[in-house]
Amino acid sequence: MSTELKGKTAIVTGASKGIGKALAETVASLGANVTMAARTEGPLKETAEEISKKYKVEVLPIACDVTKLEDLENLVNKTKIKFGKIDILINNAGVSSQYPFHEQPIEDFERLAHTNYLGYVRLIRLVINDMIKAKSGAIINMVSGSTLCDPLPRNFIVYSSLKVGLRAFLKGLFWEVRDHGIKITSLLPGVTDTDLTGKLKEVTADASRLMTTEAIENALRFALTVPANVCPLEIAIINQQTPWTKPVIPFKQEHPKK
Ligand SMILES: NC(=O)c1ccc[n+]([C@@H]2O[C@H](COP(=O)([O-])OP(=O)(O)OC[C@H]3O[C@@H](n4cnc5c(N)ncnc54)[C@H](OP(=O)(O)O)[C@@H]3O)[C@@H](O)[C@H]2O)c1
Repeated sequence: MSTELKGKTAIVTGASKGIGKALAETVASLGANVTMAARTEGPLKETAEEISKKYKVEVLPIACDVTKLEDLENLVNKTKIKFGKIDILINNAGVSSQYPFHEQPIEDFERLAHTNYLGYVRLIRLVINDMIKAKSGAIINMVSGSTLCDPLPRNFIVYSSLKVGLRAFLKGLFWEVRDHGIKITSLLPGVTDTDLTGKLKEVTADASRLMTTEAIENALRFALTVPANVCPLEIAIINQQTPWTKPVIPFKQEHPKK
């Protein structure tokens, strides 16, 4: 185990499984204490115990729905009471949704916007003033490799456009807060083997094209251990054969029959 983050405190959202669990392990393996957040308490507590035992760090599991402002406030307050400060925020909780736009349930838009965009922005707002006072902090955000596609992948345009908006917000925030000693990093993973992709059709039909979380863990380790005057603003971690690289507009288009 390494000690590069010993004495630091990290919050990881969506930490009970998938990429978030892997990232919580990464910060714990570097010696940081971790607050882990997700909605479902059972798996969250199990994962927290596993990480605490394995890396001999303090882990605080907090049930939190990132779509609810009061849950985010509780997450920040309880972390400050337990650990006294927040050095690292890893905004990761997210949900996916695959529909042709005209068939997408209208309530899906709100769920996606509140989880994948507002959840991130609100939580950053709740921690940023303490980081400004401390003149340091690192905010790592799970964006998506799909934001590199133009036009956005078919059937994912609401999900992906919210991630594009998030990516733009984070780039702007980088310029606003860098003079306060705060680092803002966006991670842009390709299609990764998690429960989230397990639910998608076509994209994951060929499992050999999926990547594991290992390269994303390495990217996080890199982002958190570069010299103090360096900020990796964006890191794209794309699998060589990511399904997104297929042409997204077919050459032969069908036109409505008159
Ligand atoms: N997998 C990929 O290919 C891929 C690629 C690019 C980007 N991403 C992004 O990476 C992030 C993690 O994805 P993943 O593949 O690891 O997903 P996952 O395996 O489905 O895990 C999602 C995690 O987020 C939590 N979560 C979901 N909604 C939440 C909410 N409202 N409040 C709090 N926690 C919530 C889940 O726990 P509960 O359900 O118990 O709350 C779980 O811990 C997402 O932001 C996703 O958009 C994934």
